[in-house]
Amino acid sequence: MSAPALEARGLEVTLDGVAIVRRVDLSVEPGSITALLGPSGAGKSTLFAALVGERRPTAGVVRLSGVDVTREPLWRRARRGLGWVPQTPSVLGDRTVRDNFATFAAVAVPRPVDRLGPDAWAARVGLAHRLDARASTLSGGERRRLELGRALLAAPTVLVCDEPFAGLDPAACATIGALLREAAARGCAVVLADHHVAQALAVCDRALLLVDGQVATSTTPAAFGDEPAVRARYLGTL
Ligand SMILES: Nc1ncnc2c1ncn2[C@@H]1O[C@H](COP(=O)(O)OP(=O)(O)O)[C@@H](O)[C@H]1O
Ligand SMILES: [Mg+2]
Repeated sequence: MSAPALEARGLEVTLDGVAIVRRVDLSVEPGSITALLGPSGAGKSTLFAALVGERRPTAGVVRLSGVDVTREPLWRRARRGLGWVPQTPSVLGDRTVRDNFATFAAVAVPRPVDRLGPDAWAARVGLAHRLDARASTLSGGERRRLELGRALLAAPTVLVCDEPFAGLDPAACATIGALLREAAARGCAVVLADHHVAQALAVCDRALLLVDGQVATSTTPAAFGDEPAVRARYLGTL
């Protein structure tokens, strides 16, 4: 069997002496979508920071397609095909949508796919009518589509998305969900974290509950809501 697209073994992150991520094991197959759910402060973003290379883990291993990348910086993991959409806004706010796509296409690693120009990329994520708009004037849903499109134009083999549905209305959530599904259908392994439980479960193949930095449960999306740990430690707290 081939190696998982993304794998973590015994991953730990300690910040200011406090264990935030605690011995997390994770295995993500090409073409699958994994949703990481859990209360605020559970450690989802910190786990992602360690997976993408923004933060060095205190212990444990991260592998991309079987290659140990634990000590590699973010840019080197990007070259191996890792895409990253952070929780906080990351567009070039003073530049137009067209400029945003053109800039990221110019620096895209491993490579821009299909040699599509910025206009074609904007159309692909439903932003054709916003090409000349400054990115700072986009709605939340439009901004998320720009951030996702910009990550997807590098043809990532793994895409880590932190709260792709945050602050979006149902229609915008559906569009983002469809883009993630499309990426998975092309073979990309998607990992997302979100509080939009219904949307995350609708789009994923596997749902993990993270509590206090530990994976408490790993289930199918259909079974997630009935898991005792989920009811006791997550859904009951919403
Ligand atoms: N740089 C940091 N230094 C110390 N503690 C941090 C730092 N960043 C996050 N934390 C703490 O780590 C915990 C997990 O945060 P985070 O990973 O953002 O959780 P989540 O994304 O699940 O909401 C929180 O208690 C937060 O206060
Ligand atoms: Mg977070």
